[in-house]
Order: sequence, then C-alpha cells, then structure tokens
Amino acid sequence: MTYKIRVLLIVFVLSLSACQTNNKDSKKDTSKEEVSLKEHFKGSFLIGAAINDSHIDRSDSLGIQLLKKEFNSITPENIMKWMYVHPEKDSYFFDTTDKYVALGQENGMYIVGHNLVWHSQLADWVNPIKDSLEMASVLKEHINTIASRYKGKIDAWDVVNEALNEDGTLRESVFSNTMGDGFLELAFKEAAKADPDATLIYNDYNLWKPEKRDGVVRLVKKLQDNGAKIDEVGIQAHWSLEGPSIEDIENSIIAFSELGVKISFTELDVTVLPNPWELDGAAVNQNYDEFEGDPKMNPYPNGLPDSVKLKLSKRYQDIFNLFTKHKEKISRVTFWGVQDGQSWLNNWPINGRTNYPLFFDRNYQPKKVYTDIISAKNN
Ligand code: XIL
Repeated sequence: MTYKIRVLLIVFVLSLSACQTNNKDSKKDTSKEEVSLKEHFKGSFLIGAAINDSHIDRSDSLGIQLLKKEFNSITPENIMKWMYVHPEKDSYFFDTTDKYVALGQENGMYIVGHNLVWHSQLADWVNPIKDSLEMASVLKEHINTIASRYKGKIDAWDVVNEALNEDGTLRESVFSNTMGDGFLELAFKEAAKADPDATLIYNDYNLWKPEKRDGVVRLVKKLQDNGAKIDEVGIQAHWSLEGPSIEDIENSIIAFSELGVKISFTELDVTVLPNPWELDGAAVNQNYDEFEGDPKMNPYPNGLPDSVKLKLSKRYQDIFNLFTKHKEKISRVTFWGVQDGQSWLNNWPINGRTNYPLFFDRNYQPKKVYTDIISAKNN
C-alpha cells in the first residue's frame, strides 16, 4: 500500500468515526430537546397554557419559545371574553382572536376557546336585558357568530363558565334571571350547531366540593336528557398548597366520567401565598384591597424559600400522580399562565403580591417543581 493510499485510508476512517460521533452527539441533543412537559405526558393528556396579549402579538419572544417547547395546547386568558370580543351589540372585535387562533394553528396546537357564556367580564350592554326571548336571541347570535367563525379551527369551547353556586344550585346572573337554566341548553345546542366537531365543555371552579360536584352532575344529566351535546367537564383547578384534598378531586373525576364525559383541568395553578380569610373559590370579582401592601400577605417578595419550593413540588407531584392514575378519563391539563411573573395570582385576590404558582420562574427558567415532575416516571 502506498503512503498516499494509507493516508487516504486513515483520513477516511477518521472522518467516518467523526461522523458517527457527530451523529451520536446530535442524537443526544435531540433527546435533550425532547425533555418537555408535552413529551413527558404524551399519550396521557395534552398540556396547555393560558396565553395573553404579549404572546399573541409575539412581543414576549421568550414566552413564545417556552410555549412552543413545552405546551401543545393554548387557551386565551382574556381576549375571547364577551367584553372584549363583543363589546357592543352590533360590533365584534376579532383582530386579536384571529391572531390567537393563527398562533395556535402555526404551531399545530390544540386550540381552546374561552369562553362563550359567562356572567363575569361580560359586555355592559347585556346586563339590562330583562326579556327571555331577547336574551335567547342575543345568546344565539353571539355563540353562532363566534363559534362559526372558528369552525374547524378552535378544537374545544368552554361553552358556559361558572353557572353554579357553591351549593350546586343555579347561580343568579343576567342569563339565569331571564331564562332560568334554559340558557345552558340553548348555549350547548347553539355551539354544537355552529361547530358539530368541536369539543364542548362546561367549566367551573371548586368542583371538588361534594354539593357543587352534585350540581354539575345534575347539570350534565339534564343537558344529556334534553339532547344537548356536552363532551367534557372542565375543572378549573385554582388550588393551593393545602387544598383541596386529592381524594375530593378524585371523587369528582370519577363522578363526572361516570356520566360519559371527559374531564379537562382547564386553569391549573397552585398559590403559595396566605389566604387567611377563608376564600376558597376563584370568583374573579373578589378583591381584598385592605390587604394590599401588607407584608404578612406577601411573605416572599424576593424569592421562595427552599422549604416552600419543596412543598410546591410535593403538591404538584400528588396532583400529577392523580392525573396520571386517571389519564384515560382526562383529555387535557392546562396551566393558567406560562410563567410566574404573568400569573393572575400576583394580583388576585390582593393586588401587587409576588406569587409562584406555575412551573417556570420570572426568567422563563424551569423551577424545581418542573424538574421533579419531568424526572418522575409517572405517566
Ligand atoms: C382571570 C384572568 O386570569 C385575569 O387576568 C382577569 O383579570 C380575570 O379573569 N376563572 C376563569 C378565568 O374562568 O377566565 C379567570 O381568568 C380566572 C378564574
């Protein structure tokens, strides 16, 4: 073998092995990239996040990056609510909602519409309505206009939000005052007409409470008996370190799935801040201004102590272990926000606090709770 050929051979062998190492490296890199919430829970349920204007107008580029990597579903935190999308009787504002849907489509995400009928964040012009026929026609027009516009694009609708009191009875609202519980049937039937393939959800908080759980069971049964399509119960899941108990949540998962509907956890967050006034719901009109600025109510303005990080991680592990145990019954788990700094819990029910309820910190970095969940073999 001539020297030239020997050199050529050596170069060939070396480059072959370099090529293999590269392949290995690139394989390693890819698998690193695959570590994400959506991959971890693939085959169990979708992992979503509520997003806000800064994601929709793409100004929060780090937020968008995180969204694409970790989540496969989105919910609009505010922009699709009645007061924003239908502010006057004869005018709709679809600029932002169109952009929201486009963002989800571009990234192949499961797109949620939140929501069609809710007494909160309602447009002022709806409140004076007194007549049931007028309300029925307003609801039909509202639901049909929005749900038809996004037919085949929005995968699931929170059709009715928070229609029940804590004891499971029908909440007083402009809808129930005019139409009784008939507005529920009308809303679900109208949504199904506008988009027969969309998943239709009844969404509410505190559904772990036995009386409210029973109220939802009655509500779903009545809809089914009257021939309305309802596919899921959405459990909002605004929870805390202390409660609700895993057993109460599990009882609701079982009770709802026995009705033949799926369960989605639509607004998951876990507050770590004190709540000494026995507030246990998520009614958005509650506000405790007198506590604003009180350091006792805002104990962690500069970071969460390790002991609380541990509690948060343990709490979320219990929660996700439960979800995984019932994965066949659960279609989606959506966090109410992308990272801690953007969570509504910094301002609700007391303004100006520093809360830590999500999986990513204010610098868009994964927290201990994220790493602990991702490394657990629980799905
Ligand atoms: C909250 C938003 O996160 C806040 O930004 C807004 O000020 C009030 O509404 N239940 C729901 C959500 O269904 O729409 C609420 O979102 C939280 C409680």
